[in-house]
Amino acid sequence: QRLTACTVVHTMGAYACQRKTPLEHHNTIFTDALLLLAENAELCANEGRNVAFKRAASVLKALPRPVRQMEDLQGLPCLGEHSQRVIKDILEHGGSSEVEMTRQSEKYQAMKALTGIFGVGVKTAERWYREGIQDLADLVTADLKLNREQQTGVKYYDHLNMPVTEAEARTIGQIVEKAVHALLPGAEITLTGGFRRGKKTGHDVDFLVTHPEEGREEGLLPKVMGWLEARDLLLYQKINKNSYLEAKEWPARPSSNMDRFERCFSVFKLECPWAASEKSNQSGESPSWKAVRVDIVVVPFSQLAFALLGWTGSQLFERDLRRWAAQEKGMSLNSHALYDTKRKQYLRASSEEEIFAHLGLEYIPPWERNA
Ligand code: GTP
Ligand code: MN
Ligand code: MN
Repeated sequence: QRLTACTVVHTMGAYACQRKTPLEHHNTIFTDALLLLAENAELCANEGRNVAFKRAASVLKALPRPVRQMEDLQGLPCLGEHSQRVIKDILEHGGSSEVEMTRQSEKYQAMKALTGIFGVGVKTAERWYREGIQDLADLVTADLKLNREQQTGVKYYDHLNMPVTEAEARTIGQIVEKAVHALLPGAEITLTGGFRRGKKTGHDVDFLVTHPEEGREEGLLPKVMGWLEARDLLLYQKINKNSYLEAKEWPARPSSNMDRFERCFSVFKLECPWAASEKSNQSGESPSWKAVRVDIVVVPFSQLAFALLGWTGSQLFERDLRRWAAQEKGMSLNSHALYDTKRKQYLRASSEEEIFAHLGLEYIPPWERNA
């Protein structure tokens, strides 16, 4: 391959788990555009397109410098024709007309508003949209029958659409820890998800709970949620029991990214000392608390490393880890275990480092998994 003076030829793996992807990077004008198209594809239930745009954006996030000309893209993986056209438009015109048209489109805006309600997925939003419902106000007027999750979503719509801060995540961590330790001393709580990757805000807070003596964690979650409920710390909770027993082929079926842990999707009522100031007390308008989405997952100790790796994200990083395992290594990875299909054996690990080693990958720390 011929190199000209201003051309950099990149050696970048095609799998997100082969790359270091920091939170802050140099190509946000391009990635914001590509991620909007990815989001729109997701809202149109077009999974292929969604992933393709996400992959393209992810590659640009991993670049050590800004893209200044099309030649800078030479040798990079995952940049399809469509993504390249978007990048070219931005380089030449400072923006992409396709992205702007999508952003302004009625359907994109309506689907975004409706799926922004906790408990509302693309399918439901699409059905409502076809019935002429475009936002929260329309939904309230239509007076449809909503499930308990959606009712919670409507009730706390504003709070749940406000980013959760790192400080709020830490405070909730202390509350969860207090509850867990009151019921099972020696249990361990780990903050995972986006905050573990170093994000400063999130749409929720994710925790793993385990106990070094395996088995002690059984039955813990309902007790913890009851403890919180009794102290008026919850606005919503739904426990999904673990499904180890029903699963004949457990644990090596990574076909779905849903796992079999016992977990709770909840909404916390987080007291905000700063909001309880004189002003809000006088006006009586804004409450002295904030509704915050919290996910708690209970993990048997021997699966902790796999659960931690599986719940830290990003979503694309996870997806590519599984794809790498299957396609390049003949292994099957999920949040419970790693199975070597050829040798027909499970590969144990007590740390994320060991899992990367089993997979023949360089270790990537959480804050470089922002693919
Ligand atoms: P924000 O919450 O938006 O800041 O981002 P996040 O990366 O924390 O996303 P989220 O809370 O949705 O999920 C955290 C991680 O857990 C992601 O990597 C998801 O892929 C993963 N995850 C979410 N739900 C499940 C699930 O049901 N099973 C498994 N195994 N992983 C999940
Ligand atoms: Mn999260
Ligand atoms: Mn979550």
